[in-house]
Amino acid sequence: SLLVFALVFLLMAEYLRNRRPSGFPPGPWTFPLVGNMFSLDMNKAHEGMTKLAEKYGNVYSLKMGPSWTLVLNGLEAVQEGLVTKGDILADRPLLPLHTDVLPKLGILFTNGHMWKQQRRFALFTLKYLGLGKRSLEPSIVDEFIYLSKEIDNHKGKPFNPHLLINNAVSNIICSLVFGHRFEYSDVKFQRLMKLFDIAAKLEGSIWSQLYNAFPMLMKRLPGPHHTLHKIYDEMLQFLKAEINKHKEDWDPSEPKDFIDCYLNEIQRTNTDDGAGTGFHEENLMMCSYDLFGAGTETTSTTLRWALLYMAKFTDIQEKVQAEIDRVIGQSRQPTMEDRANMPYTDAVIHEIQRMGNVVPLSLPHVTNKELQLGGYTVPKGTTVIPNLTSVLFDKNEWETPFTFNPGHFLNKEGKFVKRAAFIPFSAGKRVCLGENLARMELFLFFTSFMQRYTFSMPPGVKPNLQPRTGLSLSPYQYEICATLREV
Ligand code: HEM
Repeated sequence: SLLVFALVFLLMAEYLRNRRPSGFPPGPWTFPLVGNMFSLDMNKAHEGMTKLAEKYGNVYSLKMGPSWTLVLNGLEAVQEGLVTKGDILADRPLLPLHTDVLPKLGILFTNGHMWKQQRRFALFTLKYLGLGKRSLEPSIVDEFIYLSKEIDNHKGKPFNPHLLINNAVSNIICSLVFGHRFEYSDVKFQRLMKLFDIAAKLEGSIWSQLYNAFPMLMKRLPGPHHTLHKIYDEMLQFLKAEINKHKEDWDPSEPKDFIDCYLNEIQRTNTDDGAGTGFHEENLMMCSYDLFGAGTETTSTTLRWALLYMAKFTDIQEKVQAEIDRVIGQSRQPTMEDRANMPYTDAVIHEIQRMGNVVPLSLPHVTNKELQLGGYTVPKGTTVIPNLTSVLFDKNEWETPFTFNPGHFLNKEGKFVKRAAFIPFSAGKRVCLGENLARMELFLFFTSFMQRYTFSMPPGVKPNLQPRTGLSLSPYQYEICATLREV
């Protein structure tokens, strides 16, 4: 009878723990211990979460493992959360996988003073390095020349563009952080690419989600935490070597890249007493790690979507090419100044980002104070998921939400129009730090592709526009033909 009593007691305790706290918005029934973790298909969480909004409204709650989570859906609720109440949602939940395995440094997963200081410095430095003769613009158009040499080698025959695009996009972050690119065949570069690829896959895996929900248990099992730790150590060695090289030929009066600028900042902030400043070499490493982690996979996946959409919608591809021929021609490479004269191409790139929906649930936020939103009150410490998918496909915002339609971004006269519901970079205090760089890369790479090649699927193959799911949505591996244009 003692056993029965203990069982009843445990069940009661779990029932009470599992009840929705008062003030919380409604949501689906949550299972003991695991909450809603397994009732949502974690590989398609963005679809499941968007569906739940039809039943429970645009602001609802879920339980992911042990923690209550608020999900914001549709433009109005997402904007109210991220922008109007932006200060309360400026923090990230500290995921056990990050706090246990990686140092609490950098930009992506820090909060408070450290985050503000490192984010402000990185934003300033990106702007500084993006200007004038140091501009990243020439690095991008030069990189395309290397990329096109590789693509030309395939002579219009089917090839998988994944690795090549990854290499090209990663080289832009290398130019930003290290001040130089790598040959694609460079063994060290290939290893670096591999490390990031493994890290991204691990962080998107079910293992990581389980680790974050049940760290005490998972810590004792083999899993991604061990591998992530090893990856970070190896990255550290790589970055250390780059930093040491930078120190050797250092000219503080002319910083050429992120490492130079950061070394200057370390020196500047450490002269007056120095104690407690957040600028030191380990933080330089973690910030670089974040720039690579956040800035390569996202941009490269968007470009892979771009080629696939163009191979599918050949009439749209032709219209883009016609605009390029009219505005740029074939005798020079595109520049950012061309964008203002190319509303159709600009609209197509926006539509690729909307439909590609590469970061479907943004990154998680957490309330740092009690939050009142949509008539509900949730306490400090509640995880908040801005469901970007529900905004990018919001039926109230888009004329044909599920159809690829560049017209979403064009007015009757064919001029480019901004849309408030276009938020692939999220919004508010944590809005993507690399948005400007990403938009520059997308415009210059996409326009260069369309200027030089016509993309088509191999004979008999239909493009698969269904996303492969995970933390970010990417196309399944595909082969494509790049035929040199005759103009
Ligand atoms: C954060 C999207 C490219 C650096 C984010 C977030 C999204 C996003 C959705 C999360 C915002 C939030 O927390 O609500 C994208 C997309 C890209 C892209 C779709 C390309 C198409 C880049 C690039 C860089 C970059 C090129 C680096 C140069 C960052 C950083 C953060 C971030 C550092 C964290 C900001 C913070 O926590 O304060 N990005 N991004 N991203 N992104 Fe991007």
